[in-house]
Amino acid sequence: MARISIVGLGRVGLATGVAFAKLGHEVACYEVDASKVDAVRGGRSPYREKILGEELRKVLKKGNFRATDNAGDALVGSECYFICVGTPPLDDGSMDTRFMTDASKGVGRAIKGRKDFPVITVKSTVVPGTTEKLVAPMLAKESGLSHDAFGLCMNPEFLREGTALEDTLKPDRIIIGSNEKRPGDVLEQVYSRFESVKWRCDIKTAEMVKYATNSFLATKVTFANEIANVCASFGLDSDKVLEGIGLDSRINPKFLVPGAGFGGPCLPKDMKAIISASKSLGYKPLLLEAVLEFNERQAARVVDMLERELSSLDGKRIALLGLAFKAETDDVRDSRALPIIHELLRRGATIVAHDPAATIAAFGTDLAVKQVSGIRDALENVDGCIIQTSWREYKELDKEDFAMMKHQIIVDGRRTLDGKKLPKGVIYRRIG
Ligand code: UDX
Repeated sequence: MARISIVGLGRVGLATGVAFAKLGHEVACYEVDASKVDAVRGGRSPYREKILGEELRKVLKKGNFRATDNAGDALVGSECYFICVGTPPLDDGSMDTRFMTDASKGVGRAIKGRKDFPVITVKSTVVPGTTEKLVAPMLAKESGLSHDAFGLCMNPEFLREGTALEDTLKPDRIIIGSNEKRPGDVLEQVYSRFESVKWRCDIKTAEMVKYATNSFLATKVTFANEIANVCASFGLDSDKVLEGIGLDSRINPKFLVPGAGFGGPCLPKDMKAIISASKSLGYKPLLLEAVLEFNERQAARVVDMLERELSSLDGKRIALLGLAFKAETDDVRDSRALPIIHELLRRGATIVAHDPAATIAAFGTDLAVKQVSGIRDALENVDGCIIQTSWREYKELDKEDFAMMKHQIIVDGRRTLDGKKLPKGVIYRRIG
């Protein structure tokens, strides 16, 4: 079993650390945010996750997992390091490498003078070239070691919010990017108790696999949305059509659910970053740009559907159910709720919003939106309603809830009420 240090207790770092500890490694996590460290030490996951908190408590009890904001304590003496810090977008969509730089410096200082070949693995999503051009020189400079005195790997993660630990423990594949055999072998050994396929490649390829995966998923959702919109023009049931194409094993039914578009902290950000990096190298990725543009329009399309029912949105009171980018999370990053809010406000509507977990304040910008805590308070006396997140609470909407509305018009942006028998008088519209 290895002594492992994790840098960054974001969702990825925490899930990775807990997974390694669960499988027997000795794990120390370093995080600069003391409030996160306190939560984790106290056995609380700072993130809304299914089993992460429970498993965290188990490894804390077992004694082979710890968290600290003391770099020396967490980083000195480990055999393997995993850099799991965020790479948020800058205003132009390109990747902010600030935290990567800090993390690389910290690990570099911690491995100073080492003669036992520590292996440093980048797990953060970074554009191709970053591990070799930014991380490696920083490690060498701060440690005073030559490049062959430490190992370097790139090992992207593919976890989803809500099921972070499950996805970390059972990924479809473990991508091990290394330019030399030795560090790749060390990493493969660290993962030896994971049943998933281990797939080896060079560092830059591993970096790109992550972007290509997220770009494909975003494109697949967008394709489903496009087909659903086309089906609507033909008066066809798009679900039946998408079910028909999903039966083709080359396509499969996953990520084919149409709706208000994709959001979240990864798909939009990663697409913007790879588009920006690719353009800086002289190639304009037309398809990827179109996917992002389409995604913006799809949110406006939801508002168009409601406007069509009401003739005009000017002066209308609209309920927005769901602020989070998907159900079972309080995360609003790149949530489709934001473009929907902007469109509704631009067209003169007033908005009453509801979400079981996410808040309007989380958007970090002043929005003329009233948030209420009860679903019925949101629906009371409104001219129409948009469902933006498919929370279980919304699937259970009943006759009494709809009765609160002045006009019982529902535009479902997430297939939330699909298959549900709605009371007479409710006008139900959905994308596709
Ligand atoms: C995603 C990737 O799935 C994961 O591998 C990567 O590591 C991080 O980004 P996550 O952001 O948690 O995970 O969200 P995901 O469940 O993939 O959904 C992304 C968005 O696409 C959501 O807004 C969701 O509502 C939308 N979506 C997804 C659809 O509109 N239709 C679908 O069929 C699937």
